[in-house]
Amino acid sequence: MASSCLHAILLFSLLFISSTIVHAQTSFRPKGLILPVTKDASTLQYLTQISQRTPLVPVSLTLDLGGQFLWVDCDQGYVSSSYIPARCRSAKCSLAGSSGCGDCFSPPSPGCNNNTCGAFPDNSITRTATSGELASDIVSVQSSNGKNPGRNVSDKDFLFVCGATFLLNGLASGVKGMAGLGRTRISLPSQFSAEFSFPRKFAVCLSSTSNSKGVVLFGDGPYSFLPNREYSSDDFSYTPLFINPVSTASAFSSGTPSSEYFIGVKSIKINEKVVPINTTLLSIDSQGVGGTKISTVNPYTILETSIYNAVTNFFVKELAIPTVPSVAPFGVCFDSRNITSTRVGPGVPSIDLVLQNENVFWRIFGANSMVLVSENVLCLGFVDGGVNPRTSIVIGGHTIEDNLLQFDLAASRLGFTSSILFRQTTCANFNFTSIA
Ligand SMILES: *[C@@H]1O[C@H](CO)[C@@H](O)[C@H](O)[C@H]1NC(C)=O
Ligand SMILES: *[C@@H]1O[C@H](CO)[C@@H](O)[C@H](O)[C@H]1NC(C)=O
Ligand SMILES: *[C@@H]1O[C@H](CO)[C@@H](O)[C@H](O)[C@H]1NC(C)=O
Ligand SMILES: *[C@@H]1O[C@H](CO)[C@@H](O)[C@H](O)[C@H]1NC(C)=O
Ligand SMILES: *[C@@H]1O[C@H](CO)[C@@H](O)[C@H](O)[C@H]1NC(C)=O
Repeated sequence: MASSCLHAILLFSLLFISSTIVHAQTSFRPKGLILPVTKDASTLQYLTQISQRTPLVPVSLTLDLGGQFLWVDCDQGYVSSSYIPARCRSAKCSLAGSSGCGDCFSPPSPGCNNNTCGAFPDNSITRTATSGELASDIVSVQSSNGKNPGRNVSDKDFLFVCGATFLLNGLASGVKGMAGLGRTRISLPSQFSAEFSFPRKFAVCLSSTSNSKGVVLFGDGPYSFLPNREYSSDDFSYTPLFINPVSTASAFSSGTPSSEYFIGVKSIKINEKVVPINTTLLSIDSQGVGGTKISTVNPYTILETSIYNAVTNFFVKELAIPTVPSVAPFGVCFDSRNITSTRVGPGVPSIDLVLQNENVFWRIFGANSMVLVSENVLCLGFVDGGVNPRTSIVIGGHTIEDNLLQFDLAASRLGFTSSILFRQTTCANFNFTSIA
């Protein structure tokens, strides 16, 4: 009797202690979260890592700025005691915009359960999609004050979609899925902002070298980089983000808008002179064709053929030095010994993407326009996207490296800084020393 009473008291106090620990954890409100980003040298993909499952394991992912959600391979090696499939018609399904309902005729496992809803995990690099089960599991990410990483925080029911092993083809070695930061209610930024009650904003700063880390910072600024360079709202120029009414994913249900980030480029200038192009191509038509988007799954900026020809010819004329035989995938290259070096890369004509009015433009300097393809060959790092591409201008990874971009989902606008090399810092200068 006495011993069982003691037992009950012990049990009670244990419960009490563990519930206070749980309480202390959930009451910590991070200002933001941080993911490190590395550039894979062979595929030029930008990779990140999150911890997921019970027990937690690090999962390597290809970063997809316009991607719809997190998807991971559930066919191989997905082991977790906290995996929960989303039941048909549940709140999770409606958050994901998934009205379907499916059964699975293999033994139950993560990715294969009855009475679940699903979505289309998309390998946006190879443009391959499949259908997969919507599910939730725990993810753990480092918090951040915008300056350093802090303690790890977890989201116990983070929604993601189960992909398949074949969907990993074309992704960097070791990668198990893709991390979508796009405009949906279940993308990483949307779920993190909802879970931790911080503003629906995130910033991307990609490093230009594969041996140093860039960052994605979820939450509002200011964002700081060494040595003591702080970026707050005054340091950004802003331009509206546009919604393309037709999905750009490899598979989608009709009526779904694109989850990618489109901006309104109105003209292009080189050395501050207007490049003659067909401006009809710069707007998005009712079929969702045309316009300008930003992408991290394309290593270089891609231009529709007529824009590509106009830009490269104008650039060659303005640079006014002889070209050398070109190196694929680029069309115009130069002897790098003919080009000076500046703080913002090779000293070449600036390229401006002129936005909502003449005073708002995104200036692209040599570090973001030129690619050193071999010891003495420097090419204009733009690629010909062919005639009638879905999107006329795709601003690719090389063009946004060492630029700080802030995506404000609530205000539907992009904040951009142009090259931060001007302020003698780089995206690799985030201070990853944890203050936890
Ligand atoms: C789903 O239900 C069907 C029919 O009742 C059954 O044959 C199948 O084994 C179930 N699948 C799973 C994954 O439970
Ligand atoms: C926090 O998470 C990171 C990876 O996200 C991991 O390397 C680190 O060990 C974790 N720290 C703690 C204290 O769990
Ligand atoms: C400009 O582009 C639009 C859309 O592709 C096309 O319909 C139109 O014919 C083009 N105009 C000229 C002058 O090439
Ligand atoms: C460009 O470089 C080549 C080789 O170094 C040199 O012969 C040529 O004179 C240079 N041209 C200009 C315009 O600087
Ligand atoms: C990085 O942050 C840590 C923690 O705040 C600080 O101690 C350290 O001095 C910082 N590093 C540099 C180079 O400033």
